[in-house]
Amino acid sequence: MKRYENMDAFWMPFTPNRAFKASPRIIERTEGVFCYTDDGREILDATAGLWCVNAGHVRPEIAEAIGRQALELDYTSPFGFGHDIGFEFAERLIQHTPGDLNRVFFANSGSEAVESALKIALAYQASRGKSGKYKLIGREMAYHGVNFGGISVGGLTPNRKGFGPLLPVDHLPHTLDLERNAFSRGLPEHGLEKADALEALIRFHDAATIAAVIVEPVSGAGGVILPPAGYLKRLREICDRHDILLIFDEVITGWGRLGSPFAAVEFDVVPDMIVSAKGITNGIVPLGAVFVADPIHDCILDNAPEGAVEFYHGYTYSANPVACAAGLATLDIYEGESLLTRAGGDIGRYWEDALHSLRDIEQVVDVRNYGLIGAVQFSDAAGSGKPVGGAFQAGCYNNGVMIRAMGNIIAFSPPLTIEKAHIDRLVGAIRMTASELF
Ligand SMILES: Cc1ncc(COP(=O)(O)O)c(C=O)c1O
Repeated sequence: MKRYENMDAFWMPFTPNRAFKASPRIIERTEGVFCYTDDGREILDATAGLWCVNAGHVRPEIAEAIGRQALELDYTSPFGFGHDIGFEFAERLIQHTPGDLNRVFFANSGSEAVESALKIALAYQASRGKSGKYKLIGREMAYHGVNFGGISVGGLTPNRKGFGPLLPVDHLPHTLDLERNAFSRGLPEHGLEKADALEALIRFHDAATIAAVIVEPVSGAGGVILPPAGYLKRLREICDRHDILLIFDEVITGWGRLGSPFAAVEFDVVPDMIVSAKGITNGIVPLGAVFVADPIHDCILDNAPEGAVEFYHGYTYSANPVACAAGLATLDIYEGESLLTRAGGDIGRYWEDALHSLRDIEQVVDVRNYGLIGAVQFSDAAGSGKPVGGAFQAGCYNNGVMIRAMGNIIAFSPPLTIEKAHIDRLVGAIRMTASELF
């Protein structure tokens, strides 16, 4: 297929545009756990696209459902009008959510779903007469998308700096602790006390000013940072004690990544809202959602005047019918192939052993894993003064595997359909790249 000669018009997101366009990496086709490049190479997709293609690429069932829906009912306004598939999809989704998270607010991406969740938190506090509770607490190293609410509670400096004054927020400390927890398998043992930092923030700000705490149960884009054992439960207890909402951003951890439908299920901690996107449609059509606890939804509705719009928020494409069709077909696959729990079984144990076998590489200072997510961290010295991740990603790509890079960390989140031979190929490519680079 022809490669576009003029790449000027497309300003690529989160990409060094000049470097990319000088040396493009073009994917021409995808299938199963593989991408195929325009020069005919097969690349193992060890990132499931961008942590989203959980059921593997090009599933005909999803493509056909999208086509059927587009030919039957392509679009209607979601403001004041409805369509069956939106209600059907919401009902199917909540079969997988824990506790009383029975209401679904649709958006089009993780970023929009985050904004929606933060606004629901503020609307809830105001609707019960506590509009003084408007501050939000995030966490260092967190990624909650790129809109203003998300970067305010987010904790990745390059994404925040340069965008002016943000929302009134504060941040918990991150939970990465290589000194005590390096090479943990699954949840790290040390660091439960990092949750107690929330008590200190509450003392400083006063609970009467705080609406909600938002955390990724496992930080993805920050470098696959796991919660110490008991940490999320402790956050839940503190939030309950101080009448503060707890939001889990499960854009990455949702839909089977950790071996359960959600991290909330896996770690047995029910938040007040779950933010979801990515795997909700297997990444094929953009869609985000917030799962909201009944009492929050009911409070906002019950306190609005009869007949009025209860929540002044929504998107042209909230519950877009084609996206809902993709989502329903995705759920059929997840349920039919037991993919939402597969990462917790034999394949997850194989994944753990395989990744930890890389520990003998001299420059490796940590290996982290849970379910089918993982990361390897290199020493600061590994890249002779520069973070080594970018060079490692390029090397792995040349060696036939797509991975993610963040500074000195490389991260993996393959399709949940991955087999042992593919895991061997990933580990082989990492070893080969290390021997070339170091
Ligand atoms: C935890 C988390 N929240 C939010 C987002 C933003 O999602 P999107 O890129 O769909 O806006 C991401 C994206 O990676 C994410 O990992």
